[in-house]
Amino acid sequence: MNSALPHRLDGKFVLITGAASGIGAAIARRCADEGARVACSDRDTASTKALAASLGPNALAVDCDVTDPDSVQDAVDATAQAFGRLDGLVHNAAAPSTDGTVADLAVDKWRLEVDVSLTGAFL
Ligand SMILES: NC(=O)c1ccc[n+]([C@@H]2O[C@H](COP(=O)([O-])OP(=O)(O)OC[C@H]3O[C@@H](n4cnc5c(N)ncnc54)[C@H](O)[C@@H]3O)[C@@H](O)[C@H]2O)c1
Repeated sequence: MNSALPHRLDGKFVLITGAASGIGAAIARRCADEGARVACSDRDTASTKALAASLGPNALAVDCDVTDPDSVQDAVDATAQAFGRLDGLVHNAAAPSTDGTVADLAVDKWRLEVDVSLTGAFL
């Protein structure tokens, strides 16, 4: 916890998808530093658990594949059970990035992008 930051999220409850690495992990850390209780969700269970443990007792690790409706429902249920309510959601999960331009993109990679970014946001 960074005590130099203002606690603008004191008393708030936030769920972050794709929190196991990169920008999602940074968002989780910042939300926790600002006082929020954070549900860190990702399909990468080990990294999500490690992140939540590093954030202390105010953080929760939640397994979630954002492309799977049942998995999303389970993640929301687990968060609701632990937190009692939800004030914020950051849908940050993203399919692994690919090199090249859209012209080089195979259709299966495009479908995965749409599934994770768009359908994941809908779910
Ligand atoms: N890195 C950049 O320069 C950049 C720039 C603009 C926007 N963004 C956006 O920011 C977000 C994070 O980017 P990043 O660079 O940190 O990516 P990253 O690849 O480091 O992290 C993405 C996370 O999403 C998770 N993920 C992938 N598929 C998932 C699924 N089906 N269900 C749940 N989790 C899943 C991965 O396990 C990973 O932890 C993405 O939405 C990306 O499009 C990134």
